[in-house]
Amino acid sequence: MHGSNLIDQEDLYKTIFQRKSVRKFQVEPLPDSVLALLREFIKDLLPIYGEIETSFMFLSPDDIRSFLPQPQAPHYIAAFSQKREGYRTNIGLMLQQLDLFLSAQGIGSCWLGIPKPKKEIIESNPLEYIILLAFGAPKEKLHRSSVSEFKRKSLSEISDMESDAQILEPARLAPSSVNNQPWFFSGDRKNINVYCKAPNFLKNLLLKKWIPIDMGIAIYHLCLHFKIKGQEVKIIQDPNPSREKPGYVYFNTLKIV
Ligand SMILES: Cc1cc2nc3c(=O)[nH]c(=O)nc-3n(C[C@H](O)[C@H](O)[C@H](O)COP(=O)(O)O)c2cc1C
Repeated sequence: MHGSNLIDQEDLYKTIFQRKSVRKFQVEPLPDSVLALLREFIKDLLPIYGEIETSFMFLSPDDIRSFLPQPQAPHYIAAFSQKREGYRTNIGLMLQQLDLFLSAQGIGSCWLGIPKPKKEIIESNPLEYIILLAFGAPKEKLHRSSVSEFKRKSLSEISDMESDAQILEPARLAPSSVNNQPWFFSGDRKNINVYCKAPNFLKNLLLKKWIPIDMGIAIYHLCLHFKIKGQEVKIIQDPNPSREKPGYVYFNTLKIV
């Protein structure tokens, strides 16, 4: 993975350990110069699957509908994708690059699965609508002061990697829908098998669309970790059935070289 020249990757990486969802925003829109910078950044988002067509639309509050009270922001990005194997995970990995970039720039953001763009906007795009990311100047604290402020599972709950588990810390801290943290990691520091916990009936019903996005977010945090350490990550699907794990659904293998 390479990525945008617009920001030091170290700054993005540091943000993993500080970021939080911002749900209170200033009403005023961001300056045009900032929006222009974001448009440039979006052009450089790296996918897992380059062959899957994606598009990102900038929306304003009038373009959004929600059946539940939800965070109101001056700006939204709507992600759309071609419907192909791995497409939601691909969007999770791509849009998390923007989530970290926004946070690193002092801009608040929040993934939003519940609100949606208005019907005519969804219908105007030939690709499938996937998710929203709300953003704007924050009207609440932007960053956490320490890792202890993250409400997350422990490393032993999300992995059986034992001595190598510490490398999973960036994935452990990743945001997920309703803080579900569906991920589980196995293997070693060279070959990390990525699973999600098989959802029960209710979770499957409610979170089915969002779990693959969560997985893409966590995978991106791990990719950035290895990139910062000067290592390259190949995200593959390993056809070897020995990586099957009862109670878990296999997603990908990260090969670290
Ligand atoms: C795919 C996805 C969908 C989400 N949908 C919503 C949402 O509809 N409304 C909301 O307030 N937060 C939403 N969130 C934010 C999560 O609730 C939040 O990331 C999680 O509770 C962890 O908190 P943190 O981001 O502050 O670390 C969503 C997050 C993800 C990744």
